[in-house]
Amino acid sequence: MGFSLRIRSFIFIALWNILLGNVQAAVNSSVSSSDTPPVITKDTPENDPNYKAPLFPLLGFEPYANNPIMSPNPANNWESAYLYNPSAIVLDDKVFLLYRAQNKTKTSSIGLAWSSDGYHFTRYNKPILEGTEWYEHIGGCEDPRVVRIDGTFYLTYTGYDNTTARLCLATSTDLVHWEKHGPLFPDFTDLWFNWQNPQNNAVVRKGWSKSGAIIPERQPNGYYYMHFGDSRWFTANSTDLIHWQTTNIGGTPFAQPLTVWEQGLIEPGPPPIKTRDGKWLQIYNGQATGPGGYKPTAYGTGEMLLDPVNSPDAPLARLERPVLEPSAKTDIEGQVDNVVFSEGLVQFKGKWFLYYGSGDSYLSVATAPVQP
Ligand SMILES: *[C@@H]1O[C@H](CO)[C@@H](O)[C@H](O)[C@H]1NC(C)=O
Ligand SMILES: *[C@@H]1O[C@H](CO)[C@@H](O)[C@H](O)[C@H]1NC(C)=O
Ligand SMILES: *[C@@H]1O[C@H](CO)[C@@H](O)[C@H](O)[C@H]1NC(C)=O
Ligand SMILES: *[C@@H]1O[C@H](CO)[C@@H](O)[C@H](O)[C@H]1NC(C)=O
Repeated sequence: MGFSLRIRSFIFIALWNILLGNVQAAVNSSVSSSDTPPVITKDTPENDPNYKAPLFPLLGFEPYANNPIMSPNPANNWESAYLYNPSAIVLDDKVFLLYRAQNKTKTSSIGLAWSSDGYHFTRYNKPILEGTEWYEHIGGCEDPRVVRIDGTFYLTYTGYDNTTARLCLATSTDLVHWEKHGPLFPDFTDLWFNWQNPQNNAVVRKGWSKSGAIIPERQPNGYYYMHFGDSRWFTANSTDLIHWQTTNIGGTPFAQPLTVWEQGLIEPGPPPIKTRDGKWLQIYNGQATGPGGYKPTAYGTGEMLLDPVNSPDAPLARLERPVLEPSAKTDIEGQVDNVVFSEGLVQFKGKWFLYYGSGDSYLSVATAPVQP
């Protein structure tokens, strides 16, 4: 296909890690990387040719036996410590991941990887997005979520200045060169439910916003919608996908923790996927507080059904239980323990691939059958 692959052997990296005394990370550090990403244009075809829309709920996710599928790369500073939370899109018969990576001082950047089978990825050696602006100083660019509308990629991500998280937007037509549009809601003030501190559990977070999942289709009333928030969710709308409006604190949240496994917080996962009956399947992440046998602070993956025009104030339906929970060693022990954090969902070669961060340290995948 014309890209020059630089494939590092497992042994080389293992020796490198042993040299650095980093023996644990040597377990799965065989990295395939490249200095030349595939060429994407406005005309590059999207989605699987045999794509079949889902019905709610989408069940049967099984973690892949050889997870994690991607690990930090000690050869590149920007992705040398942690690698997780991927967004996913199918283009030109390949799965592309935009993933969050951190170096040893925890500055986040966003990397790009691609695969012909959904499991084995080659990555671009350079980050496609890194902290350059005041609102990204030290913390960097976190948690990408990408949609493609009329050939343009719209990427929501968190700009983090090491104090305040701000939901930001960037656009591109090739996944490599991005134009930053800055924080979307600079005046938004969030009310965080800090369940671990019962004396003071309602914490005002000035300027704080995070985790925007754009519904990738103009709705019948002429508007685009997104839901965002990492405690409670709010709705924003737009007519051009660049300028968004929302109602500030005081408004009733669109959704908040409901069932027993997600009492701590809820946070959008991948951008919603249109169902066979024209509604929107939203995969999301929830944090448990202890009851119901769910470990305190453990993150699982749930599902809800959206219809932003006919049900603007609340989801239409929600699953009572998670479809994915921490199970592998890398989910259970990491930078943050007991975390699966889903951010990418694609249908590829007859299966659903759900990509998620493991323990805020590695990148894993679970697959589910396409419904008949
Ligand atoms: C590393 O990869 C191998 C082969 O792909 C797999 O069997 C093993 O479980 C992985 N190790 C970890 C720690 O995930
Ligand atoms: C991590 O990246 C940031 C931004 O490039 C840089 O300032 C910092 O020195 C890096 N940390 C390490 C340990 O190299
Ligand atoms: C960023 O914040 C963390 C956690 O509060 C702190 O430990 C670290 O020193 C800060 N980094 C810088 C460069 O200020
Ligand atoms: C768009 O958002 C604004 C601010 O929350 C709200 O007042 C307005 O009703 C919304 N419009 C539509 C069509 O959803």
